[in-house]
Amino acid sequence: MLTSFADAADVQRRLDSVDYLVDEGTATALFFAMALGQPLLLEGEPGVGKTTAAKALARVLDTPLIRLQCYEGLTVSEALYEWNYQRQLLAIRLAEANHERLTDADLFTEEFLQERPILRAIRYAGPVAPVLLIDEIDRADDEFEALLFEFLGEAAITIPELGTFTATRKPIVVLTSNRSRELHDALRRRCLYHWIDFPAASRAAEILRRTVPSASQALVASATDFIGRVRTLDLDKAPGMAETIDWVSALSVLGVSELVREDIVRTLGAIAKTPDDRAAIADGLDDLGYAVVG
Ligand SMILES: Nc1ncnc2c1ncn2[C@@H]1O[C@H](COP(=O)(O)OP(=O)(O)OP(=O)(O)O)[C@@H](O)[C@H]1O
Ligand SMILES: [Mg+2]
Repeated sequence: MLTSFADAADVQRRLDSVDYLVDEGTATALFFAMALGQPLLLEGEPGVGKTTAAKALARVLDTPLIRLQCYEGLTVSEALYEWNYQRQLLAIRLAEANHERLTDADLFTEEFLQERPILRAIRYAGPVAPVLLIDEIDRADDEFEALLFEFLGEAAITIPELGTFTATRKPIVVLTSNRSRELHDALRRRCLYHWIDFPAASRAAEILRRTVPSASQALVASATDFIGRVRTLDLDKAPGMAETIDWVSALSVLGVSELVREDIVRTLGAIAKTPDDRAAIADGLDDLGYAVVG
């Protein structure tokens, strides 16, 4: 297993071997992030494959994926490290039983330190650097971002009681955001940036051929064409690749080999996720080329 990439085309080829199909822009961004050892911030609409980028990268490099899912209220003790209070308490009791007293210096040592994803990525000692996925950073509070600056800039974290831990081999860091809020400039500055577009029709069709092998060529072709047109409507949430895969799977289960209006209406729940979007797509079917027949 090769642990680095020769060029962007090599990235594209090897990701293709694990069924993650990227355009040249995404392949180039991943290549530079690895070549320069810099974190990569991926943005794009939901379902364009941001999370999958990190997973696929870990697979082709045959290295662990360490994942930090962000959410409101995320703290140091869930993301970086935590002190094992129970073990500290036990040590204090044991010492007391032996008529000894433990000091802070005895209690705040590596023995009592619990790794959370970021410290785990820094201390990982395997043969290839791990991939650290910091998923949906925009869901964390903006103060949390500041906790990441040292790590993103220097691949290090400082634990006040112990000192600074620096990665001997920088982890490969992928951050994702859905742009639900603006990120700090200071965070952006420490990362390379790439916006992932919805795949072009031909790539979307190839993704469908691989993920829903039971779907006929004709179904895949007409479904990608239809989704492309749906995405031009003014929707609350345009269908992403995940929705497209679900939809074509549903159509395939129904035994559909060519797309007709009736089947679209029956399966709209896979691509329209709000009542307004459902109505907008149903109302648009005539214009989208699926008029009522007869
Ligand atoms: N380029 C691609 N090649 C292959 N599969 C893809 C690609 N893009 C998306 N997919 C598929 O689409 C689905 C959604 O992808 P993923 O969850 O990575 O999207 P996301 O951008 O992280 O979405 P969200 O913002 O909702 O978290 C997955 O099943 C993934 O396999
Ligand atoms: Mg995701």
